[in-house]
Amino acid sequence: MTTYKLLLLPGDGIGPEVMAEVEKVVGWLRQAGLADFETERDLVGGAAIDVHGKPLADETLARADAADAILLGAVGGPKWNGVAYDIRPEAGLLRLRKDLGLFANLRPAICYPALADASALKRELVEGLDIMIVRELTGGVYFGEPKEITTLEDGSKRAVDTQVYTTAEIERIAHVAFDLARKRSGRVASAEKNNVMKTGVLWKEVVTRVHAEHYSDVELEHVLADNCAMQLVRRPKQFDVLVTDNLFGDVLSDVAAMLTGSLGMLPSASLGATDARGTRKALYEPVHGSAPDIAGKGFANPIAMIGSLAMCLRYSFGLGEAADLVEGAITRALAAGARTRDIVGEGQTPISTAEMGDAILRELAAQAG
Ligand code: NAD
Ligand code: IPM
Ligand code: MN
Repeated sequence: MTTYKLLLLPGDGIGPEVMAEVEKVVGWLRQAGLADFETERDLVGGAAIDVHGKPLADETLARADAADAILLGAVGGPKWNGVAYDIRPEAGLLRLRKDLGLFANLRPAICYPALADASALKRELVEGLDIMIVRELTGGVYFGEPKEITTLEDGSKRAVDTQVYTTAEIERIAHVAFDLARKRSGRVASAEKNNVMKTGVLWKEVVTRVHAEHYSDVELEHVLADNCAMQLVRRPKQFDVLVTDNLFGDVLSDVAAMLTGSLGMLPSASLGATDARGTRKALYEPVHGSAPDIAGKGFANPIAMIGSLAMCLRYSFGLGEAADLVEGAITRALAAGARTRDIVGEGQTPISTAEMGDAILRELAAQAG
């Protein structure tokens, strides 16, 4: 059996709490003989600042580069509010994404049947929801230069962020979205703001061309990003694959998270290009952050993190059946009434992070046995 090298980067806040539950699932898969992993742990974000004085040590980046896949919890928190901008916790995550070339961020928003009443929207709007947000992750305003604050003659300041996209960056993310759509319901919506932004004009032009040249079997719709946010709340099931840039993707995926019941439900995969050997760099992380408001209390929902492991099994290791088992166990644990505080309904008693992990393990054992 192949042994996969998995690098665990728990990070900060609830990151280590949800990572502990993933480690239980990893242990179970190993013991059940379904997959073999060699796991290493390292520091990222504030935890790395405390030890190394920066949010991503060069040795950690080298380990990440050498791993078959990376699982990351979350970074950031008030403890590091005062550190210099260039070495803030989030810079560690951004460097991992950029330096490993993880340009394609897949953020599936699925409303589990048992949670249709946990959403902020009415049941009929979200029941059966299954959207795949494809967020461009290594370009746009996150990385464009200049990015600076300068002081003007009168002592006031001027801040600049730069939104940049090239044809090649848009082409490759468009291919990811259209290829995924072919395996799903064959529909792509592309969100930008070509009415205000030059990057939006180029985005629409390139997506339209890639579609015409290679994917005439897929249905393509263009939508302005502000309208897209509104449509996600008005009638979310009109969307299947939604492709968009780095910043719009960040915002729209948090909106989509609430359609599923909680930000604690959304996993993600950040993927690089496929090389000649058919392998690609990959990092898996929940869409949520370090949740300082609930850190240390045992309230965090570990499903986004465990779902990210399922995506890792499927996309990096080709272990579709093991991924189905893990996702099936999540579905059954929810159906059996397991609820952390973020998804608890009327008359239900919330359970802790560790209890949710245990409930998922019990379902895994029941399915496999
Ligand atoms: P957040 O996602 O950490 O939290 C937003 C809200 O959602 C909070 O009320 C939180 O309690 C809740 N929440 C999030 N995850 C949850 C879970 N698993 N279970 C239950 N409830 C959950 O966003 P924020 O508060 O805006 O940011 C906090 C810090 O996290 C910031 O430093 C931010 O930069 C960082 N952040 C990191 C990542 C990442 O590492 N990928 C992502 C987003 C934000
Ligand atoms: C996310 C986060 C990150 C982002 C931050 C922590 C850099 O919000 O992964 O959604 O903005 O990409
Ligand atoms: Mn975000």
